[in-house]
Amino acid sequence: MNLLTHLRTLFAPAVSAAAADPAKVPDYLAAVKPAGNPDHGDYQANFAMALAKAAGKKPPDVAREIVAALPVTTDIEPPTVAGPGFINVKFTPAFLARAVRELATDERLGLPVAANPRTYVIDLSGPNVAKPLHVGHLRSTIIGDALVRVLRALGHTVVGDNHLGDWGTQFGILLYGYKHHRDDAAFAADPVRELARLYVAVRKLFKQAGDDDEEGPTDDPVKKACQEETAKLHAGDAENVALWQTFMPACLEMLRPIYDRLDVKIDHALGESFYNPMLPGVVADLLAKGLARESKGAVVIPNAKGVIPQTDEEAKKEEPPAIVRKRDGAFTYTTTDLATVKYRMDTWKPDAMLYVVDARQALHFKTLFAAARRWGYDRVEFQHVQFGSIVGKDKKPFQTRTGGVVELSSLLDEAAEAALTKYEASYADRKAHGHDVPELTDAVKRDIAEVVGIGAVKYADLSGNRTSDYVYDADKMTATEGNTASYMQYAYARCCAIFRRENIDPGRFRTDPPAVILGEPAERALALQLLRFPEAVEAAAADYLPHLVTGYLWDLAKAYSVFFENCPVLKAPAPELRDSRLLLVDLVGRTIRRALDLLGIRVVERM
Ligand code: ARG
Repeated sequence: MNLLTHLRTLFAPAVSAAAADPAKVPDYLAAVKPAGNPDHGDYQANFAMALAKAAGKKPPDVAREIVAALPVTTDIEPPTVAGPGFINVKFTPAFLARAVRELATDERLGLPVAANPRTYVIDLSGPNVAKPLHVGHLRSTIIGDALVRVLRALGHTVVGDNHLGDWGTQFGILLYGYKHHRDDAAFAADPVRELARLYVAVRKLFKQAGDDDEEGPTDDPVKKACQEETAKLHAGDAENVALWQTFMPACLEMLRPIYDRLDVKIDHALGESFYNPMLPGVVADLLAKGLARESKGAVVIPNAKGVIPQTDEEAKKEEPPAIVRKRDGAFTYTTTDLATVKYRMDTWKPDAMLYVVDARQALHFKTLFAAARRWGYDRVEFQHVQFGSIVGKDKKPFQTRTGGVVELSSLLDEAAEAALTKYEASYADRKAHGHDVPELTDAVKRDIAEVVGIGAVKYADLSGNRTSDYVYDADKMTATEGNTASYMQYAYARCCAIFRRENIDPGRFRTDPPAVILGEPAERALALQLLRFPEAVEAAAADYLPHLVTGYLWDLAKAYSVFFENCPVLKAPAPELRDSRLLLVDLVGRTIRRALDLLGIRVVERM
């Protein structure tokens, strides 16, 4: 059950009766929210002000009328009205105890199955293969995977699609490198490594070091030669196409260890090359429907106002148009994305298409969505699920310039190493303090460090609002205290340890749960928090914001720690109380595990 939904249902009849305009009722009910200050109650309803305004009454009067009109229920205490008309709501202990006991038998831990399941296509990861993996693609992979998991958990159909950049200028670089600088023996022995070396070596021949614009006009002879190789590939040159076909498996092979390590599986990997044969048809259709027209030799979709800016002056004032075929006949990123929209609509008929892509592409997606809608795809929800950049501790862009995949995997290595150091310290510390630590071999400790290290990278990425930049700090992200993966993973392992130590089978708390007793404030607070799991997941799904799940975990962990300090479990004063507390501990462990799983983060039972 979702507590918030339960309350809204309780308030609905009274609010409907009081509302002059029935269409506004859902908005009013949306103003039932978790209380900012738990001393005032569990939830707060803030709709009296808006209702009063529409009715020309005083908000506190309206609030009191609503409270008086509530159905008789033992689920909540009589609500109080405060300040300018806030209605404070508090659940009764009996209701919470009953609801938590029910929760214990629910494998879904209260997560609802969507009444109207939707089909989502999620565009995630999208690295440009054959090129050093940019850290931005790490974010897209992690955030995208979390959204896939969250939406699936709620019963939606989700198609994950990796829109690989497998047709771009980086292949010109590889083709040029292969033709002029290859080491045949090295290529035969390990094509992946040789291609990675060639990419880096050719980039070093560019006149301007660190020149990221591989595509733009240039007088650099090497860059120009690379661009010509790309153009030949696109024109269907037999030699280049054949080479591209030999390179592709090696390029995909470079990505595999990263996905494996991140524990990310993407359903499809239909890259740009897949759409290449469809591009002339897309342009022809846009021209035939009068949506695109020729302009200075190019084919262009005018902006929403129907304008194709002709002068620089105009271009400054107007929204940009979408170029779908350049003067030289080349198709663009937008043409490919339009073909992709059509293919996805034809194939999966989604209700929504989410693009988990760097915020710097905002204009591209705005233009793309507008063009796609005019092209007839106007009933699907298009969303650019954007995220900020990864920056270093100095707040400067965090970039991988020198190496290929090694760079990203070394980033993950660094996190695993930091995790191992911290983990070993905490292990030794716990042992020195006479804590009951499991005996673990070094190999097992290294496995734990990998789970903790990768978890740390993911959690750090997911726990900020995705739209902000995120500071990559291996030391901070692996901290054992605070809102980190390690903290949650420890909390989980501690829950498991309680059962293991006393040889108690947690199964009985799930099949035949004991009565739940919530006498202590810390018990009540923990029960309330456990019941709020569905609310957090549904909110994360509604706005595509995974940090609402980590925020929830942090609140849960805090409530658990207060409970743990104040409420002895194994040494509880009475057997009923011990059972009730064990049930809460078991639920905390299950909820942490499930929530981390929604974020793609693993746990271990002993650490
Ligand atoms: N390969 C692109 C890049 O690295 C990201 C692809 C995003 N998805 C899309 N359908 N455009 O910038």
